[in-house]
Amino acid sequence: MANPGIAGLSGSYSSPSRTRILVEEIVRRASERYQRSAEVFDIGEFGADLGSARRLSDLTGSSRQIIERLVGAEALVVASPVYKGSYTGLFKHLFDLLDPSALAGKPILLAATGGGDRHALVIEHQLRPLFGFFEARTLATGVYASERDFADPGSVSPALAERLDRAIGQLAPYLAASSPENPLSKPIRPLNGAGSNVHSGSSLLR
Ligand SMILES: Cc1cc2nc3c(=O)[nH]c(=O)nc-3n(C[C@H](O)[C@H](O)[C@H](O)COP(=O)(O)O)c2cc1C
Repeated sequence: MANPGIAGLSGSYSSPSRTRILVEEIVRRASERYQRSAEVFDIGEFGADLGSARRLSDLTGSSRQIIERLVGAEALVVASPVYKGSYTGLFKHLFDLLDPSALAGKPILLAATGGGDRHALVIEHQLRPLFGFFEARTLATGVYASERDFADPGSVSPALAERLDRAIGQLAPYLAASSPENPLSKPIRPLNGAGSNVHSGSSLLR
């Protein structure tokens, strides 16, 4: 199966989940705009083995497949609900299992949901540094949504829609011109000296 164009990951294991709704909305809009295939996953889809896994090989086959889909995507939308001022613990644990080079050069749109606006900087203070570690290309605009953005069940507020369209527009240099001539479409060789095929999911799963 071909790798997804745009893949989304929600760090919430609630159902229903505002974070999942937000990720689905962003991925849907982005896939329409750039004519890419789309897939969305959430932490709840990983088995109970995620919490106790010390390395990727400890995960079940279906959990490893989700990670391969995420690592292999052209671009990612990554979001977490705010828990105690940060991302959820299982969300971080999932990324702790990845090879440091797994996301190098990957365009990533960061998003988060919280109860109010007090922790809107979770994107800048928590999510962006995490993906900086992975040498990913996080988009300048992050999307934070609070409970009032979901007042109408099943849809997002106009103010939020405007912000997420601005963020989605920043994927253009990566998705509108995915060609070998475009330097932005080439994978970055990570500083830690890992393998050069940084967009190939399976070789990074260990
Ligand atoms: C354990 C826990 C901790 C939370 N901590 C915060 C917090 O520090 N700041 C905040 O704004 N909201 C906090 N919330 C509210 C959630 O971030 C918010 O309801 C979120 O949109 C839930 O997303 P979900 O529906 O995808 O699970 C917390 C919720 C839970 C369950």
